[in-house]
Amino acid sequence: MNVHDSEKIAGIFSEVGHEKSVDTGDADVIVLNTCSIREKAEHKFYSDLGRLKKAKTDNPNLKIAVAGCIAQQEGEKLFKRFPYIDFVFGPNNIDSLQKLINGELLSTLKHQQSTFIDVNPDYPSMIFPMKRAGGVKAWVSIMYGCDNFCAYCVVPYTRGRERSRPSADIYREAEKLAADGFKEINLLGQNVNSYGRKLDEEIDFPELLSKLHEIDGIERIRFVTSHPKDFSEKLIKAMKDLPKVCNHMHLPIQAGSDKVLSLMNRKYTYNEYKEKIDLLKSNVPDIAITTDIIVGFPGETDEDFRLTMKALSEIEYDGAFAFKYSRRPGTKALELPDHVDEDIKSERLASVQKLQETISYKKNKELEGKTLEILVEGSSDTNEEKLTGRTTTNKIVNYHGERLDIGNMVNIRILEAKQYSLYGEKI
Ligand code: 5AD
Ligand code: SF4
Repeated sequence: MNVHDSEKIAGIFSEVGHEKSVDTGDADVIVLNTCSIREKAEHKFYSDLGRLKKAKTDNPNLKIAVAGCIAQQEGEKLFKRFPYIDFVFGPNNIDSLQKLINGELLSTLKHQQSTFIDVNPDYPSMIFPMKRAGGVKAWVSIMYGCDNFCAYCVVPYTRGRERSRPSADIYREAEKLAADGFKEINLLGQNVNSYGRKLDEEIDFPELLSKLHEIDGIERIRFVTSHPKDFSEKLIKAMKDLPKVCNHMHLPIQAGSDKVLSLMNRKYTYNEYKEKIDLLKSNVPDIAITTDIIVGFPGETDEDFRLTMKALSEIEYDGAFAFKYSRRPGTKALELPDHVDEDIKSERLASVQKLQETISYKKNKELEGKTLEILVEGSSDTNEEKLTGRTTTNKIVNYHGERLDIGNMVNIRILEAKQYSLYGEKI
């Protein structure tokens, strides 16, 4: 989400002729697009910001802007703690950057501190210029914010209430991407399964997929993230019937214990989740499933944690992102009793990662000798002949070939499975 927001920020600058500078010393403006999903991301921001104090002393004309979720969370308080910041704008106020540039604030010598963190109801129907990374696959926002209020999560507070973009805007953006030569679109939302809920038009997420499926030139469609409680049979049917929709589902389970799931306010039980997974697997053969796991949520006992490990063994995900529970300001989980010790969290995280590595490797190993179609995305920076692409199941495949392949679908025989990628030869 943040990576794509940065593409919008860069797009606004490049539209008025600004270029990305090679290092911070050359920059007239530095934008820190922040994430506050976990404490670690916040720490990174504060240490980067600390280092910029000197840049401002060296170049008093330098403007420093703080964007993203920390900007939203902290607002004006940031100016008090770090007086050398010039602008603060939240994730629903990226348009304020346009106002700042048009108002020539960026070019004045005066240090004007401005904050843009209001609700901004028009944001979902705004169209942004974008400076996208690469030319093969593109992020497309389909909705903003979240209404789920999972007890650990800061997103509903920083990104605000869930709002969908009008489907015609999304369609036009995808058509333009196809015209510009992009082959894959990756639809972005905190909970794509509830797309359309508050729109004036009658449309839901599977219908949006069918609509986008019509666009010539777009060969692959992916989406993140799905919430298990809203993951429907209708979506499974769309995945089965629409060949451009990739065989990959990221469905965060978070925990395997019903008690912990309830404390997390996730609104499903393990059995309900597992039934949906089984239905998906039986309808879409070869589907790859990935997930997110939180270990050490308040109240998680050894027995609860064992159920998370059991879920990983039963479901056999292709991949899992695992995190230690991190306290987030303003969230319900802060008030829960029985917070788990940091060293127990670390032990549990290591156990999850070890188990998942074994499963992921085993799954990759099963692909050795098979021929898989990949969309070639680019070459490695260090070796131009080493090309990289992804299968429909989102597995990274490397092979040696020609740069002309970039943007094409090619068939690769898998020679060797690694932990996080596959290596093969073009046939
Ligand atoms: N602590 C740890 N992990 C978190 N996530 C979200 N909030 C927290 C938190 N407070 C994880 C969830 C989510 C992913 C994007 O980040 O697993 O799915
Ligand atoms: Fe956070 Fe839950 Fe919303 Fe995902 S669904 S963004 S975890 S509140």
